[in-house]
Amino acid sequence: MKHDLQVSILKELMRQLDDGKNVDAGIQFRNPTSAYTCKDLAAREWDSFFQNHPQLIGLTGDLPKPGSYFTIDDFGTPVLATRDRDGEFHAFLNACRHRGARVAEGRGDAKRFHCPFHAWTYSARGDLVAIPQEDQFGPIDKSCHGLIELPAEESNGLLWVHPQPDGRLDLKTQLGPLLDEMSTLGFQDLVYVGESVIRKDLNWKLANDTFGETYHFQKLHKNTLGQIFYGDNLAYEEIGRNHRFVFAAKAIDLLRELPEDEWTLRGHANLLYYLFPNIQFNVGRGSVALIKIYPDPDSPGRSLTRVGHYFSEEDIAAAASANAEEMTVTGENVYDGEVRENAILSLEAITEVFDSTIEQEDYVMGEHQQMAAENGLLDHVLFGRNEPALHHYHNTFREALGMPPLEKLVA
Ligand code: FES
Ligand SMILES: [Fe+2]
Repeated sequence: MKHDLQVSILKELMRQLDDGKNVDAGIQFRNPTSAYTCKDLAAREWDSFFQNHPQLIGLTGDLPKPGSYFTIDDFGTPVLATRDRDGEFHAFLNACRHRGARVAEGRGDAKRFHCPFHAWTYSARGDLVAIPQEDQFGPIDKSCHGLIELPAEESNGLLWVHPQPDGRLDLKTQLGPLLDEMSTLGFQDLVYVGESVIRKDLNWKLANDTFGETYHFQKLHKNTLGQIFYGDNLAYEEIGRNHRFVFAAKAIDLLRELPEDEWTLRGHANLLYYLFPNIQFNVGRGSVALIKIYPDPDSPGRSLTRVGHYFSEEDIAAAASANAEEMTVTGENVYDGEVRENAILSLEAITEVFDSTIEQEDYVMGEHQQMAAENGLLDHVLFGRNEPALHHYHNTFREALGMPPLEKLVA
């Protein structure tokens, strides 16, 4: 992110803190609770936003080297993501061309993918390369029976896939100026260290809503995130259907003693991007958390959240040397193998605090909200002037489905 922009965001946060004022959208809205319970709406969301919309599936670090792969089933199209021997990223329908079994599960490294059913074999480029007992099976034109390829693009460290083979990825339109902004954040150099999976009884938009304001920080999170962040402040910008959401860490006060040309956002404020429709992307000092939120297509009251954690090599090296000191490891090559694995494990332990705050604080509220919405007596909820991300998020998804905007609250 350009330094000028970092400084203007930090100044806005300091101004709010000094004035004791939060961001002010100047407007309040009513949101119908049917947004969280309506089966017809849920079906339209699934079709428009998950079956027919580009999906951010991970970062470059999910496919760290030629031969790396991982699979995803969260948006209805089973996907096998690979990196071929030339380093190119591909995405395929994870379905064997013989009779449709999955050719890979989980994540790892593989030169070839052997379908577990009858061992048809595919390359990382999706080519069908071997059929056992081919003489008994009968002739097949292998060149026409590779895995079905999906549109895939690796851009600034982000891995995008379209779930339809004839779908179009147009990141320039989708992300607008965020495309350039993200190119400055070094996502392509981060290392995947692990993922938490949270399945809870709350609509996927309620899960998104928990990332939409800082009003709750010093209440719900007073003993967790509230120790690190002030809350009740927000530098907020809508960028098309997406937004940038920055709030002050208590460490912002350290900058007050420094000249502006030494100010940096990361480490002094938290940077959160919302990427339409289902991504919350939390950018820390040397790490990021990629939060992907999916509806349960059979139940508007359930959702799945994946929180993927990625760290810089510097953070891993620092954790490795801290561990090495503790273990009094000596010798020259302390950073390879087991020491690196232990460093990654210790970083994973740090991420548990973040994940458990989401699961045990935010999403507990979300489950209560879901219960109230399903009961039906509470027909709407309220979004305040200090909650502009919620206004934007709900109005955006409504507009995308051809629904009228939220109703303004007239006091
Ligand atoms: S279904 Fe894959 S080899 Fe038969
Ligand atoms: Fe929260």
